[in-house]
Amino acid sequence: MPNPHAKSFPATVMLLGSGELGKEVAIAAQRLGCRVIAVDRYAGAPAMQVADVGEVVAMGDPEALKAVVRQHRPDVVIPEIEALAVDALAELESEGITVIPTARATAVTMNRDRIRDLAAQELGIRTARFAYAESGAELAAAAAPLGWPVVVKPVMSSSGKGQSVVKGPEGIAAAWDAAMAGARGEGTRVIVEEFLPFELEITLLTVKQWEGETLFCPPIGHIQERGDYQCSWQPAAVGARQLATAQAMAKAVTSNLGGAGLFGVEFFLCGPPGGHPDGLEVVFSELSPRPHDTGLVTLMGQNLSEFDLHLRAVLGLPIPAIRSLGPAASRVILATETAETVVFEGVAAALREPDTEVMLFGKPDARPHRRMGVALAQGATEAEARRKAETAAAQIQVKAQA
Ligand SMILES: Nc1ncnc2c1ncn2[C@@H]1O[C@H](COP(=O)(O)OP(=O)(O)OP(=O)(O)O)[C@@H](O)[C@H]1O
Ligand SMILES: [Mg+2]
Repeated sequence: MPNPHAKSFPATVMLLGSGELGKEVAIAAQRLGCRVIAVDRYAGAPAMQVADVGEVVAMGDPEALKAVVRQHRPDVVIPEIEALAVDALAELESEGITVIPTARATAVTMNRDRIRDLAAQELGIRTARFAYAESGAELAAAAAPLGWPVVVKPVMSSSGKGQSVVKGPEGIAAAWDAAMAGARGEGTRVIVEEFLPFELEITLLTVKQWEGETLFCPPIGHIQERGDYQCSWQPAAVGARQLATAQAMAKAVTSNLGGAGLFGVEFFLCGPPGGHPDGLEVVFSELSPRPHDTGLVTLMGQNLSEFDLHLRAVLGLPIPAIRSLGPAASRVILATETAETVVFEGVAAALREPDTEVMLFGKPDARPHRRMGVALAQGATEAEARRKAETAAAQIQVKAQA
């Protein structure tokens, strides 16, 4: 594809979604002198704190979304979240607005069924065995042949919302209710998958350029709880054959989706417990057409972070090399209670260790399990980096301001 973005600076960049990942994209853009317009549903969102303009918009409302884009006419629209009026993005794209990576990619990846059909059926990529259902009865019938346990997910949801692991037929009704309660939008479709007892799950950050080859970051290992990532580390120990397989799968899917930008491609590495990394099977899970939360670790682990890479790819700037700077790890800092205003204790203690950083996102309020910050660390080994990130995060307490 030709490079439509080899334009003079400053470019105007609009972020749809202004969370902690968007904030880092905004910082990368500001460093290159770009003008940043940060859009979110609430004022004071993280990326708005470092943007030229903040706009509060209900981004699921097509008219509101089109109005804010047409008002600013940015050079590129960079989605940071899934919950967008994707038909409005397609309409804007047809008016000549560049949507990253493409409007179609935002629509396909928003729906688990569309991306799964593309990967498994169209491209023949190995995924967990799966089926779809649109009622509790259909779910019971679809689950049984997969073998227990199964994982049930609404086709539209993120951060594990509405997702449950079902051990047997008696759990189906509750899983159906949980999926309906956690689904985004009106649909009643769920995906049911075989439960994969994986050895490791990884994110392969994949950079698709307007021109030039598709590039890959060193794999990132991570651990998820309650649908959100808790810690990640890079580079993850992945066998050469597995890495090549994952890269080929990531390239096939991202080439089909088109456009340019960084994608977070998620895989499970499956095999017998304690199996040697060289014997594990690579199973594609899903992907996001944007920087991935597990990739926050690249802020310390790479010469160019996932945010720098996303911006360079989007603007058609060169990416001459992606290099690991050695073992690095991240650990999230979560709120434990609801608070209108928060203060952080223990920041000084956390920063005493060399090669450790703390990022606090500046979110205005807290609720239980809300991600408020992250601790990052480098170490001589993966184990040391992970231990340092854990120790730093554990020192920080999120408190309600008295
Ligand atoms: N078939 C499966 N077998 C075992 N574990 C699974 C399976 N599907 C999902 N999980 C676990 O649940 C996590 C979340 O699932 P998934 O990535 O599909 O949902 P998500 O809500 O899109 O998450 P996010 O958007 O935050 O990446 C996975 O990272 C993995 O730990
Ligand atoms: Mg996921």
